[in-house]
Amino acid sequence: MRIFSGIRPTGELHIGNYLGAIKQWIELQEKNECIFCVADLHAITTPYEKKELQKNILETSIAYLAAGLDPEKSIIFIQSQVKEHAELAWLLGSIISIGELKRMTQFKEKSKKHPKYINAGLFNYPVLMASDILLYQTEGVPVGKDQEQHVELAREIARRFNQKFGKTLKIPQSLLPKVGAKIMSLQDPKKKMSKTGNTKGCIALFDSPKLIQKKIMSAVTDTGKNIIYNPKRKAGISNLLTIYSLFSGKSINQIEKEFKGKKYSEFKKSLAELIIKSLEAPRKKRKELLNREVYVRKILEQGKRRAELLARSTVQKAKREMGLI
Ligand code: TYM
Repeated sequence: MRIFSGIRPTGELHIGNYLGAIKQWIELQEKNECIFCVADLHAITTPYEKKELQKNILETSIAYLAAGLDPEKSIIFIQSQVKEHAELAWLLGSIISIGELKRMTQFKEKSKKHPKYINAGLFNYPVLMASDILLYQTEGVPVGKDQEQHVELAREIARRFNQKFGKTLKIPQSLLPKVGAKIMSLQDPKKKMSKTGNTKGCIALFDSPKLIQKKIMSAVTDTGKNIIYNPKRKAGISNLLTIYSLFSGKSINQIEKEFKGKKYSEFKKSLAELIIKSLEAPRKKRKELLNREVYVRKILEQGKRRAELLARSTVQKAKREMGLI
């Protein structure tokens, strides 16, 4: 399968990004043709600092490599360096209605959050994301639950394009992990863990062991004392059980049995140790890569060149089918 996905470089990556997206990417790259970008063109649709963005673009690229993406197996590149992303987005913008874009949940949420920064880029964000995906004739898009609506729109855009102009674009499908498609905040388990949210509620991929321990131990849990999975009535513990399951590879049922009769604090201590151990290798690799910027830039340059070849052929075909000469 041809796979495509990306992450916005808007802050430190967290375990929600890892468990919802990157973990799948690493598994998928073994048997598929994978393309992953650092979605920097998406990052400029919300307020940002120039210096901070530059740092985040490089940090996100390093995080991909540190987490286990292999440049021998996957194409890894920076979105803005392949100009076809913006080009196809313009073409696709003409076949989707304003009404459909207004209904996008992320647009509504972000407009509410940044009322002084509701720019046209933010509004057109889902068209750019559709372009990212459709450019590569993608079949599978591994993402977390919050991006499902955008992938659905990309499918609709592709269908409509093909109907109107003749079969040109592959219809992609989203690949959501069975467990972990929506990791919740440790401080408010009714809300999604997010880069910009409460930092105490969010474990960054490269937080120090001490900080991970502190955040897990102070995670909000529910009244009662049983360690059982029940997202409606025990949202906090259920979220921690999900995280435990994903990092350990054990089923939730198995973990419930293991901690039967034990205290919340014992469970949390064990979870903190598990996360710290699981992230130890990526933490070391990141440290090493931070000192090898030339090597990282070379990988991104190679990725750009490989991505460009694929992207160019789709744009040429789309333009021709649309009647441009
Ligand atoms: P972004 O940067 O918000 O998130 C990156 C990936 O992490 C997933 N994710 C989560 N999964 C589980 N639990 C959470 N709490 C959690 N928070 C985030 C997201 O679902 C996503 O898979 N628009 C995209 C980036 C993008 C993209 C693309 C994705 C740009 N072009 C093309 C796929 C295909 C975004 O803002 O993701």
